Amino acid sequence: KRANDQLLVIFGASGDLTGRKLLPALFELFIGDMLPEHFAILGAARTAFTDDEFRAEQRKHILEARGNKETNSADLDRFLQILFYLAFDSTKSAEYVKLKDRVHLLLQQENIPDRIMYYLATPPLMYELVPKYLQENGMNVAESEDGWRRVIVEKPFGTSLETAQELNKHLCRIFDENEIYRIDHYLGKETVQNILVLRFSNGIFEPLWNRNYVDSVEISASETLGVENRGKYYDGAGALRDMIQNHLMQLMAFAAMESPAVFDPEPIRDEIVKVFRAIRPYTIREINEQVVRGQYDGYREEKNVAPDSNTETYVGMKFFIDNWRWSGVPFYFFTGKKLPEKSSEIVIHFKSTPHQLFAGQCSGSSCNKLVIRIQPDESITLRFGLKMPGAGFTVKQVGMEFRYDSLSKTHLPDAYERLLLDAMLGDSTLYARSDALEASWRFIDPILHHWKEEGSKNLFFYEPGQNGPLERMMLGADSAGDSCDSC
Ligand code: BG6
Repeated sequence: KRANDQLLVIFGASGDLTGRKLLPALFELFIGDMLPEHFAILGAARTAFTDDEFRAEQRKHILEARGNKETNSADLDRFLQILFYLAFDSTKSAEYVKLKDRVHLLLQQENIPDRIMYYLATPPLMYELVPKYLQENGMNVAESEDGWRRVIVEKPFGTSLETAQELNKHLCRIFDENEIYRIDHYLGKETVQNILVLRFSNGIFEPLWNRNYVDSVEISASETLGVENRGKYYDGAGALRDMIQNHLMQLMAFAAMESPAVFDPEPIRDEIVKVFRAIRPYTIREINEQVVRGQYDGYREEKNVAPDSNTETYVGMKFFIDNWRWSGVPFYFFTGKKLPEKSSEIVIHFKSTPHQLFAGQCSGSSCNKLVIRIQPDESITLRFGLKMPGAGFTVKQVGMEFRYDSLSKTHLPDAYERLLLDAMLGDSTLYARSDALEASWRFIDPILHHWKEEGSKNLFFYEPGQNGPLERMMLGADSAGDSCDSC
């Protein structure tokens, strides 16, 4: 599907996100003929590039992002022609006059109507300033009746409930809620969207998808990398803010929500908020017993990390959703850096049979499970017991597996491709709404407060390459976030 003609202005265009994710995603949309007919991208940042220098820079990034995929250089040249650059200082209101002039010129020159999408690919500090200065310079509202303005805001959206609320209020004074797109790139992943299709287009799962048949639900995202060169941001954030408040909470919402009556953005987002609001808040004692925080050995020596940092690079937690569907079913989150493998998955553990008849039959919740592998090796596997051939009735656990790579001809779009296209089309289904965001912070905030008070108490260390601190075992999860490949 092609979006209507528009101009995309990227703030922070000389940064990492633009080169690594945004422009490669836009190039894929370009090749797939999904960009608007009249369309231009204006990169704006402080670095002094000319249009051509910026294009040359982005050419490198796009080729790098495409890896060994073959790239047609004529396509790439044509794409780079719709790319423009403005060197300006986004921290000074007066500079926006320059931006406004360039925008007007581009709209005219490229024959684009009065529709402008702003992308804030800047450090979070600028999420307040850029919209403020856009408003001061009359750039936050359309100039014509059928024009529009939209803004995409990257994560982290706030660092606490209070700051997220402030940012929401601030943005809502400048743009309408339906013009604000809060991005969470996990929602752009095909496998994440597929959770909704798996659940709501198949009659066989729904009857089992509740407290009567589900024993527990584990949601994990492990990474092999450490903080690399992001110490400055990460040391002030930590795994709870960086991964759980957004990505893992969204995965959980898709796994736990009720079916909306229709598949439209607002009914879907209503169901997400209901799940977040039904999460049982922790008491201080429960935080101590049900949330485990860890830090990998050597983290404090990383670049731009405080030598006495208590920032967590690992979190394991158990919590409950107090509603009819999930009452009494433990949910778990596990996430961490420098773990043995990169993998994100959701595991639904079903209850076992009430009585064991066969030798080798497993008991407990590890017998039947549905493993939704978000990445890599995207797949869905149902595990169950079958009879071993031969004498007797010995049971063996087997898996029935669907792998995305068996759909060999289908291009699995990168998360940013899908999300950028949706925003251009005006579809906010896969973007976080302000009430959901605040509800997720409401759950996370008390943990952050408590950890701040505790300092280094109850911070557990783990060796890089281990599955996190051993204390995670206290939570009583079946696989404790360890990948399910071998189970
Ligand atoms: C980002 C976090 O949002 O997600 C990173 O800031 C993390 O710390 C990344 O590495 C993980 O994303 P993905 O898509 O690689 O699982």
